[in-house]
Amino acid sequence: MPTKSIHQAQFGDFQTPIPLAQKIVSILKKNHHLNPDIIIEPTCGQGAFILAAYQAFTHATILGFEINPDYVKNSQQLLPDNKQVIVKQADFFNTDWATIIASLQGYLLIIGNPPWVTNSALSVLNSQNIPEKSNFHQQKGIEAITGSSNFDVSEFILLQLLHLFTKRDGTLAFLCKYAVARKVMRRLRKNTIYRLFFSIYLIDTKKYFSANVESCLLVVTTDAGDVDCQVYASLDAPQPDRFIGQREGDMVSHLYLYEKWRHLRGEESHYIWRSGIKHDCAKIMELEPVNGGYKNGLGEFIECETDYLYPLLKSSDLAHGDIGVYRKVVIVPQKFVGENTAVIKKIAPKTWDYLIRHKEYLAKRKSVIYQNKPEFSIFGVGDYSFKPWKIAISGLYKTLNFTLVGTLDGKTVLFDDTVNFLSFNTQEEALFIYALLTSEPALEFFNSIIFWDEKRPITIQLLKRLSLKALSKELGLFSQYQRWTEQSQLDMLESR
Ligand SMILES: C[S@@+](CC[C@H](N)C(=O)[O-])C[C@H]1O[C@@H](n2cnc3c(N)ncnc32)[C@H](O)[C@@H]1O
Repeated sequence: MPTKSIHQAQFGDFQTPIPLAQKIVSILKKNHHLNPDIIIEPTCGQGAFILAAYQAFTHATILGFEINPDYVKNSQQLLPDNKQVIVKQADFFNTDWATIIASLQGYLLIIGNPPWVTNSALSVLNSQNIPEKSNFHQQKGIEAITGSSNFDVSEFILLQLLHLFTKRDGTLAFLCKYAVARKVMRRLRKNTIYRLFFSIYLIDTKKYFSANVESCLLVVTTDAGDVDCQVYASLDAPQPDRFIGQREGDMVSHLYLYEKWRHLRGEESHYIWRSGIKHDCAKIMELEPVNGGYKNGLGEFIECETDYLYPLLKSSDLAHGDIGVYRKVVIVPQKFVGENTAVIKKIAPKTWDYLIRHKEYLAKRKSVIYQNKPEFSIFGVGDYSFKPWKIAISGLYKTLNFTLVGTLDGKTVLFDDTVNFLSFNTQEEALFIYALLTSEPALEFFNSIIFWDEKRPITIQLLKRLSLKALSKELGLFSQYQRWTEQSQLDMLESR
């Protein structure tokens, strides 16, 4: 047997405490009125759900399966000599679930807590505990899931088991990551062969599993219900505190708020969210001002002209509110993507010399976007980068915190590529849009579509869903919106 931690990682082995399994079973009885004839625990571990199900559903036949022989013995010993309960050793991925289920009559409950592991973690461990793509021929698109680097093994297990409910009535109740529950829901909603209804109960993962991820009890049933998914804030919540569901092709995190502000959704044609500079070479391109010169990431002291240097703010600076000073400057060799960089030699010979001396670092950048581009090329740069006023928000932090940023030392501030921003010619215009973005309707709209458990919840795609034009109408400020958009169109024409 491998050491506990490697074993735990390969088999996603987080055993459910018996009191939690009992609580879940009592919720299934109380809130979902279940009284199953057959109960299956497909990865039953030490048998917490087997025991809890036996205690609650005294007439049901219970079948448990588990890959680990020690756990199989454990589960068998929980209820010895009981003809109603059978536990067998089995590998989930080599088990013919359709045949097993077809041989059993009555209302089916599939219950459990599948392995908590991603396929990228398994490939690091060189583990074979992964589904074979060919095993899953019934469902289109599974190749895409299993091929993606971070698909969860539990997602595959859920999809395979839920497919059984296309031919059979019953309910599935599984502990899984909240994000996995949503992915499964989104996938099944796309296919009309599934007529399934979803409920989610958020659980305190730290308390029960000492794990740092938002997880839930996902209940999926063929019994009629709401097309949207009710979400309970905890297992003890007497009623759901929100509904989540698909709207306009996207998953919405709070349907009541979304319906309230749905009219704010739309493409914003004038103010376009951008992300910061992408150079993939911080050691060379980001410099720390020291003693009248600069120090690069290799620790070298550099003297160069200021023509191509701009104050740089990163996500962490925005998060800490450090926007009145800057710790670094960034070399910006181009004003737009693809611009010829040879001109730097003439305008700023020391900067050119520095870049030439370190060109192998820039040439080593792996991304294909740099191939066949002028030397020292960067991305995420354009007219918009050099406007003096910006409203920025970090894509790394889990707060809806918009920050107004002006120039520093007389120069426009640039951001790294973890920051999303809008830019403006004047402080007045920036203040006007800042007031819109931080208004209650805007914040409620964003909160209705953000899932805070996502690794990077605030993306450009998400920010782009709010129409500032519609928002200005909602707030009775449309004439000001029009004035600013007309003004900046005039400015643009004049600058050409
Ligand atoms: C998260 S634990 C949960 C165990 C049990 N369901 C519970 O709720 O306590 C996942 C279980 O899946 C088992 N497992 C991992 N890979 C498996 C496979 N390929 N087939 C069957 N069981 C597997 C692990 O040994 C572990 O007991």
